[in-house]
Amino acid sequence: MGDTLNIERIDRDFGAIIHDVDIRTIDDKTFAAVREAWITYGVIILPGQFLTQDEQNAFALRFGDLEFPAAPISNLDKNGNIRHLSEDEVVKQIRGNEGWHHDSTYMPVQAKGAVVTADIVTDTGAATGFADMRAAYDRLDDATKARLEGLEAYHSLWFSMDRAGYLPNKRDDNGVPVGYGYHGGENPLRPLVKVHPETGRKNLNIGRHAHNIVGWDPEESQAFLDEINAGAVWEGNTYFHQWAVGDVVVWDNRRMMHRATPFDFTQPRRIWHSRIAGDPATEAALNADVAGRASGQPAFRQD
Ligand SMILES: [Fe+2]
Repeated sequence: MGDTLNIERIDRDFGAIIHDVDIRTIDDKTFAAVREAWITYGVIILPGQFLTQDEQNAFALRFGDLEFPAAPISNLDKNGNIRHLSEDEVVKQIRGNEGWHHDSTYMPVQAKGAVVTADIVTDTGAATGFADMRAAYDRLDDATKARLEGLEAYHSLWFSMDRAGYLPNKRDDNGVPVGYGYHGGENPLRPLVKVHPETGRKNLNIGRHAHNIVGWDPEESQAFLDEINAGAVWEGNTYFHQWAVGDVVVWDNRRMMHRATPFDFTQPRRIWHSRIAGDPATEAALNADVAGRASGQPAFRQD
């Protein structure tokens, strides 16, 4: 097998399906080829793997330490019952993710990527969308590229969830929403255009969590961010993955944006998300106070 993976390209300039590997048992040489495909294509799909959560985490750990291990993204509660009502906190989190984004840009260190597996799927809906922010940058005219150069914006889950209307109801004593990614301190500051640490290519790095470009009027800033975000997700630059049980999908969060899509909440659905931690050397926030919080970031190692 080695570096001769059976790779099927999807009908896009990014994305690939890798067949005929068992990722529980692949040797280092084959893993290196899988990793190379992940960098080359931005998102890789490995069907028919049927991993346990431990196996999923073990595979994710080959890409690096984890921001967090396999967490369910599901409309099922702990007892396996379907959650009801749009007010349900977990359902709100799922709905909020229907906006295009990179994961953990609102954390001190932006995620490197994610390994996601499907174990309960719906017949329709609940696809995960992917969009290539390298192609989105490349497509901009020179004047817009020049305008973006050097611009920085803050990233906040509090901001994006409030804007989408899905903030959690629960607040701590300081009035900060309770949940992963919410905090009351200064928000992480990130460049709108980021050089990918492995490819050296420029990528847009904006998405729904970005707000308040430094030095700009807030309304002008939001109008500009909305315009760039909207222009980044044309049909030929997006792919919506309809999950099958046993699928494994891995994306490069430094390049790809992604989003959830709606589904019938009376149908059970569960996917598992292991988040690969970013390298602080290249994915830390630009503002030192926030970057300093990185030591408190959740991390998961096998040993
Ligand atoms: Fe996400």
